[in-house]
Amino acid sequence: TRVAILYGGRSAEHDVSRLSAANVLKAIDRTRYDIVPIAISRSGRWLLQQLDEGAGAPASEDGMEVALLPGGKGRLVAVSRDGVQPGSVDVVFPVLHGPFGEDGSVQGYAEVADVAYVGCGILASAAAMDKEIAKRLMREAGLSVARSLTLRRGEHVSFEDVAAKLGLPVFVKPARQGSSFGVSKATDSAGLTASVEAAFRHDSKVLVEEFVEGREIEFSVLERADGTLTVSLPGEIIPAGKHGFYTYEAKYLDADGAVVKVPADVPAAVADRAREMARQAFQALGCEAMARVDFFLRADSSLLVNEVNTIPGFTDISMYAKALAASGIGYSQTIDVLIEHALA
Ligand code: DAL
Ligand code: MG
Repeated sequence: TRVAILYGGRSAEHDVSRLSAANVLKAIDRTRYDIVPIAISRSGRWLLQQLDEGAGAPASEDGMEVALLPGGKGRLVAVSRDGVQPGSVDVVFPVLHGPFGEDGSVQGYAEVADVAYVGCGILASAAAMDKEIAKRLMREAGLSVARSLTLRRGEHVSFEDVAAKLGLPVFVKPARQGSSFGVSKATDSAGLTASVEAAFRHDSKVLVEEFVEGREIEFSVLERADGTLTVSLPGEIIPAGKHGFYTYEAKYLDADGAVVKVPADVPAAVADRAREMARQAFQALGCEAMARVDFFLRADSSLLVNEVNTIPGFTDISMYAKALAASGIGYSQTIDVLIEHALA
């Protein structure tokens, strides 16, 4: 089976995707699969990479340009100065985060090219990427989510309205971004204006969300080819050091920025309730194969779904593989299940 691992990409999470891909390349069983590593440059070129035995994701942005041809059963054509080299892939594994990778667009490309792909389909990918749409679907399914206001570019909301409706502080987030890019906390009027401006730099739609005081608890969901769902043991993100919340810096740049604890120290009854909610969130968004469902757990034991990530991070600090491993499903086995699901 020839598996094209796509990584890098055009989103702000380009570097995060590289870290994720390095771990996927380390964990994938190379005796079982032929790996075709394709780095997508920040400008969107697909570049075929050489794979060093044992090495992580090749860092180079050079390589032979390749394209997945539509309607060709996963036909992949590599173009170089020396000419055209046709090949094919059986499965595309997008290890891409954020827009153009996790949002249904690459999934649509794979559909058109008639090649199997790992993970959620177009609709679930797009719905989960958009925090406003995802909240609506989850709320409709009876799940609690944080209250928020949505702003489209050009729309304004007064600080008084925000404070009256959502209380203070608030979080301001681009609707379709990951890894906390463009997210900031606002406590006063000037801060709100600055936060909204910052978020609009990343997206034309922005959410102003109530601040939820609580622990960050996450679950990995893995679906087998026969439709059975495994929801992992809970993991917890414990922000540490100087970061007020789980920022991009705390996640990836500061080694002491946060602690990932698996399994989280959560009463069994709470974990069971959350696990059931994770399953409902997965289904409410129409997810398939994999997702990580993130919660806030309040001191009174109530739970809010924060978000669903359809291509969760696979970096060293990421929860997805860790929580599954703690639940008895190792990293390579997880990848096997995902590829089997894609091919089913
Ligand atoms: N968006 C990052 C990769 C995550 O959710 O893990
Ligand atoms: Mg996320």
